[in-house]
Order: sequence, then structure tokens, then C-alpha cells
Amino acid sequence: MTTSSALSVRIREATAAEHRAAETRGFITRLMDGEFDLATYTRYLVQYAHVYRALESRPARPGDPALINDSRLDRYPSIASDLKHLGAADWDSHGATDATRAYCAHLEAIPEDDIPRYLAHHYTRYLGDLSGGQAIGTLMSRHYGATADQLSFYRFEQIPAAPRFKNEYRAALDALDFTPEQEQSFVDESLVAFRLNGAIFDELGETQPSPASGP
Ligand code: HEM
Repeated sequence: MTTSSALSVRIREATAAEHRAAETRGFITRLMDGEFDLATYTRYLVQYAHVYRALESRPARPGDPALINDSRLDRYPSIASDLKHLGAADWDSHGATDATRAYCAHLEAIPEDDIPRYLAHHYTRYLGDLSGGQAIGTLMSRHYGATADQLSFYRFEQIPAAPRFKNEYRAALDALDFTPEQEQSFVDESLVAFRLNGAIFDELGETQPSPASGP
């Protein structure tokens, strides 16, 4: 006998451990605790300019589930604008770490018709941005004095109520007509997506002086 649960529940459960690991990753918690500065946040955001440009370059295709072509979620234009206001308009010419390049190459290698794997990256980033990501924006302002112009990444102007949107997104996941193999592929790829993000944090963390380092 097999037990089946809704895909939205399954994905949340399957990624719970990876999520906890991401939440306690040295770099991101230290960034959120105010240990760094706006230049370090800018460096972090440069990584995500590369990632979102790759994520959002997939062209819409006939037959796509509507949720993957919801332009209300698009973040690349906001990130590029934030970077301009952070004095890093030239971000594209430098600054991608090895982990960022690997993440982008991974995204670019997903075939356009592989919906489950693309959706895994879509879910991981956008539902994250609409959840814990909101706290990042608030804390960047509090700790480092980031201005509203520098934090448009976290404002989903066309999504006034994130909790409702997330519920609708989960309902759309549950209504997908995936085969068991496609569901598994979605779940497996979400774990990959979490790890690719974690690798960026690890790499950024390695280049930051540790508060514990002493003689
Ligand atoms: C310190 C960092 C983080 C904090 C404080 C945080 C916090 C949270 C919280 C409180 C939720 C639950 C929101 C809700 O149920 O409405 C959530 C959900 C989520 N987060 Fe994070 N998060 C962090 C990092 C990350 C990272 C690095 C990723 C992935 C790259 C991520 C991806 C997600 C996803 C996909 C969800 C939606 C889960 C679901 O309901 O299916 N989070 N986060």
C-alpha cells in the first residue's frame, strides 16, 4: 500500500532538513544578525542577480503550467535596480563566485520542457523569497541602513498578500497532473536547489573574517 500526500506537503517535508541547514548557515545568519556591512550584502545580491537572470530566462512554452510563467514573481529587474542603487551597476562584469557559476550552469542545462526540474528551482526561490526572504529585507535596512530603493527585491508589488499567494501556489502545485516519476523528479531537484543555494552561502562565508578568529 502506498500513502500519498499532496505535493505541497510532500515538498515541504522533503526539504525540511535542507531548509533548517540553510537557516543556520553561518553566512546567512551572520548577515541577518548584522555582523557584516552593506558591501557584503551587495556581494550577496550580485550572486542572485546572476541566478535570477538564469532562472527567468526560460521562455514560456505552450502547455506550461500557469504558475511557472507568473510575471508577478519576476525578481531579476528588481535585483538589477537594487544593485544600481547600491553602486554596483557593473555587477555583470565581475563578482560571480564559483558556486554561483555552477548554479547558473545547472539552471541553464535544464531542458525547457523539463517542467518538474524547472519548477523545483522556481518553488525553492520564490516561496523562499515570499517567506524568510522578507525578514532579510527588513534586517538589511535595520543593520546596514539599506534604503527602500536598494531593497525592491523583497517587495512583490503585484502580490499584496504573500500568505494568500503562497496558499494559491501550493494549491496549484497540488493540482498539477504529474506522474509519480515527475513528482519524484520535482522533489529530488528541490533538494539540489537548496544545496546550490547553500554552496553560495558557504563560499561567501569563507571570504568573510570570522568574529571568533583570534591569536
Ligand atoms: C535565515 C534564512 C531563512 C529563514 C529565516 C527562513 C524562514 C522561513 C519561514 C519562516 C518559512 C515559512 C513560511 C510559511 O510557511 O509561510 C519559510 C519557508 C520557505 N523557505 Fe525559508 N528561510 C530561510 C532560508 C531559506 C533558504 C536559503 C531557502 C532556499 C533557498 C528557503 C526556502 C524556503 C521555501 C521554499 C519555503 C516555503 C516552504 C513551503 O511552504 O512549501 N528558505 N522560510
